Amino acid sequence: MVCAHLSIEQIIDLESYPIDRPEHAEYRVLLERGRESLEQSALFALPQFLRPEIVPRMAAELEQLLPRSTRYECPRNAYTYVETDNDWPREHPRNLMHPCAYNQVLNFQIPNDSALRQVYYWQPLTDFLRILCGYDSFHRSDCPHLALSAKIAGAGDTDGWHYDSNDVVFSLLLQAPEAGGRFEYAPFIRSETEENYEAVASLYRDPRRHARRPSMAPGDLTVFKGDLSMHRVTPVEGERRRIVALFCYDRNPGTTFDQWYIEELEQGLPGNAV
Ligand SMILES: [Fe+2]
Repeated sequence: MVCAHLSIEQIIDLESYPIDRPEHAEYRVLLERGRESLEQSALFALPQFLRPEIVPRMAAELEQLLPRSTRYECPRNAYTYVETDNDWPREHPRNLMHPCAYNQVLNFQIPNDSALRQVYYWQPLTDFLRILCGYDSFHRSDCPHLALSAKIAGAGDTDGWHYDSNDVVFSLLLQAPEAGGRFEYAPFIRSETEENYEAVASLYRDPRRHARRPSMAPGDLTVFKGDLSMHRVTPVEGERRRIVALFCYDRNPGTTFDQWYIEELEQGLPGNAV
């Protein structure tokens, strides 16, 4: 397979990110920077985490799998997923639907010897992310479908406004589109106790003014807390697809996703569409 013979230092820039050397002062500096960034802005970016020469190869490996990937295409509500909530006025943020469309390459489709899987399975990375997030235990998911996956968005594809149901998302941008496909978010726009619908309505009305738009380049690792921070990916423009790999972890070992969700993913596989 494409990247079978590579060592981890050929894939990750360990000079800039010494995450395999916890005894190093730079390791502690990186952790502190990351914690502060997550606390203040819900996002910690590690630019050029991957070596630039490996990134296009990883992207190409995933793009080759596009014909076998699952397609998701359904407007989404940021609060109730697919159904609107009729107790609220029609124009209320709780009732607005947002377009959502992308392809997803699933864990079992990604070759066992891919460089991407090598990064996901590299224990020092899991250890670093556990300490960064302040968890006592932290495990890679065992889900055959979603432990490791990739979202591929072509022209017009988008990920509508939403919150994440999990605390933290770990993603690697592998290919950026010619235009569009921008990640936009409003850090901590809601709290555990206050939905702050007025601010959300303003965000929907004028995202240019109210959303942050962090610059992300292929090879960057991003740690994002999306449970309280409304976010979206704007529609992709142009021929080149946006490709993002996603690493799934959980505080408990041996986790998989709910079967109803897996069945939904399987419905989107080629030949299964209803
Ligand atoms: Fe999300």
